[in-house]
Amino acid sequence: MSEVSRLRKFVSPEIIFGSGARKTVGNYALTFGARKVLIVSDPGVHQAGWVDEVEQLLAEQHIPSVVFTDVSPNPRVEQVAKGAELYHEEGCNVIVAVGGGSPMDCAKGIGIVSTHGRSILEFEGVDRIEIPIPPLICIPTTAGTSADVSQFAIISNQQEKMKFSIISKSVVPDVALIDPDTTRTMDTFLTACTGVDALVHAIEAFVSTASGPLTDMHALDAIRLINTHLALLVEQPEDTHLREQVMLGSMKAGLAFSNAVLGAVHAMSHSLGGYLDLPHGLCNAMLLEHVIDYNYESASDRFRVVAETMGIDPRGLSQSQIKRRLMQHVISLKHEVGLYQKLAEQGVHLTDIPYLSKNAIKDPCILTNPRKSSRRDVEAVYEEAL
Ligand SMILES: [Fe+2]
Repeated sequence: MSEVSRLRKFVSPEIIFGSGARKTVGNYALTFGARKVLIVSDPGVHQAGWVDEVEQLLAEQHIPSVVFTDVSPNPRVEQVAKGAELYHEEGCNVIVAVGGGSPMDCAKGIGIVSTHGRSILEFEGVDRIEIPIPPLICIPTTAGTSADVSQFAIISNQQEKMKFSIISKSVVPDVALIDPDTTRTMDTFLTACTGVDALVHAIEAFVSTASGPLTDMHALDAIRLINTHLALLVEQPEDTHLREQVMLGSMKAGLAFSNAVLGAVHAMSHSLGGYLDLPHGLCNAMLLEHVIDYNYESASDRFRVVAETMGIDPRGLSQSQIKRRLMQHVISLKHEVGLYQKLAEQGVHLTDIPYLSKNAIKDPCILTNPRKSSRRDVEAVYEEAL
């Protein structure tokens, strides 16, 4: 490895973590000189009351706001365009995103389009943003996607039935107000999907070819926190300590993957989610053990540490035994949180796999996967997961 390829950088927003963090939104908006704020959310989060509270908190600082909730799961190019139009029409100069990954990614897209005046489709890929986006404050209401700390935005192109990734430190929010209280309005399925998404972030970041000491500590901590607390939280959703620990795990997983990038699970899951409009966490869950099986030998030392962190004692076990134990552990964890789904029952047919694989190997996340992957390799993993 050359000297330069060993260098690592680490970017992160300013983070306020803990119960009540969301209530500082008015102060932050004021600090950014907010004239008018565009609040980006979705109908479910709006109904849960989190948007009204943010409006109120801004109003207390005499900051007017306008709400945009035309955001679907897997946010779309057209929604980004519509949000950017509203941002301009209303004379906004700050964006606050309240919600899960979809509103936060949509808000990042709105920020990009509002400063560049061009379609979000033109910003696919790594480091394509030329002009900084407006100040962006994120208040996550799920514990998993970590768009609030990441340099990723994933947008769905419905015409092409695919999702595309925008990776740039320009889309790292200015402030993440990470408040575990907000996750109490998630249902069990969403808690499970987003929690497993966070676990996948941590595992993929740890075995990524771009991992390093700045991200490893966060990745391992995240694996430990989610492994220990997620199934308990699904069982006891009212437990505030469990809620906080899973939120912390999600945040650490986010810091890890934002800087070490991801791998084949996400490359394949983006392709799948774009094609069938399925929940992102569920796509990851259906692929995880199959990608571990595929990747294991290319990063066996790293996977051994993952297994140990999840409570598997590897002493006296061969590499293939550790791999099997790890795969089994991941499957058990998914079952404990209620995720049993397989690709075929979600509508994936054998004949869809070439198209899914073609898009997966174009996703930037495949570049940091520990095993170099051809289209045929990816097809074989989808086939295993059917
Ligand atoms: Fe993810």
